[in-house]
Amino acid sequence: QADGDRQEQTTNERPVRRPSKLAIVGAGAVGSTMAYAALMRGAARSVALYDVNKAKVEAEALDLGHGIQFMQMAEVVGSDEIEVCADADIIMFTAGAKQKPGQSRLDLAEGTIGLVRKVLPQLVEVAPHAVYVMVTNPVDVVTYAALKISGLPSNQLFGSGTVLDSSRLRYLIGQYTGVAVQSVHGYIAGEHGDSELPLWSSASIGAVPLLEWEGQAGTGPLTQEVRDRIAHEVVESAYKIIEGKGATNYAIALAGSRIIEAVLKDEQNILPVSTLLENYYGIDDVCLSVPTIVGAHGAGARMRTPMSVDELAGLRASAVRLKAVARQFGF
Ligand code: 2OP
Repeated sequence: QADGDRQEQTTNERPVRRPSKLAIVGAGAVGSTMAYAALMRGAARSVALYDVNKAKVEAEALDLGHGIQFMQMAEVVGSDEIEVCADADIIMFTAGAKQKPGQSRLDLAEGTIGLVRKVLPQLVEVAPHAVYVMVTNPVDVVTYAALKISGLPSNQLFGSGTVLDSSRLRYLIGQYTGVAVQSVHGYIAGEHGDSELPLWSSASIGAVPLLEWEGQAGTGPLTQEVRDRIAHEVVESAYKIIEGKGATNYAIALAGSRIIEAVLKDEQNILPVSTLLENYYGIDDVCLSVPTIVGAHGAGARMRTPMSVDELAGLRASAVRLKAVARQFGF
């Protein structure tokens, strides 16, 4: 967005910048926790929550506001009027139905797409320059539909994708190897869902390629069997949490907060967000996650990450599956 858009008043000396504004659509478990996470991390100075449930959204904003003394200074407002999102720099779209135990993310497509059709055009009207991040499931199909519905360019609207799944992968590798999760590097690519896949061939532990890791402190290498078990566990993670507590919220909120920071601080971070791919290893016209540069303009270059033959085949299969679902809904 143009720098000029952010200058609201000028003093004699120099322009005064207004604080960066985060808007979150949906004040459910994911949206409210994301607001909390973003506030705790000092990601934005101004946070707006929007939800059709007026009592709920006002209560969430009030509860968050009462905690600001203990965080970095910020303003929090909650409203059932879309104008609360006006001129946001980034909008996180979390509204929609949640998965019931046993349901797959793809089962939610129809309801979420209907909601996007209704709400997204109103958002674009009040916040035309915002970066839009779709979070609601099935996030890849929803992102593709949202691009078509809004006509926004594919850098300006993308999905939270497999940022969360990649952190689940790193967590499990960290647990197995006894190494801090922050020293584990690697990505889950493809669908945020059942057809996703770990990019083992480019993963590393510290500076050691993961496939060459020999183990330490009584733990062994990551054999094919261990890798398969970890990959399976990543896919099953959400199902397991939904069985136990009805929804996932903390880790997705933190993953979302990471994306918010990358955009609002123009970090040029490499994150596996879900974007429209064009000629990516022969994959076209579908939204899915690959390591992507993220900054103030949203999603930048999709990095041509080296992949094994099997990984590439897995990514293409994920693309075929997601395209089929999008076509099913007329996109
Ligand atoms: C998650 O992976 C359900 O998509 C949500 O936690």
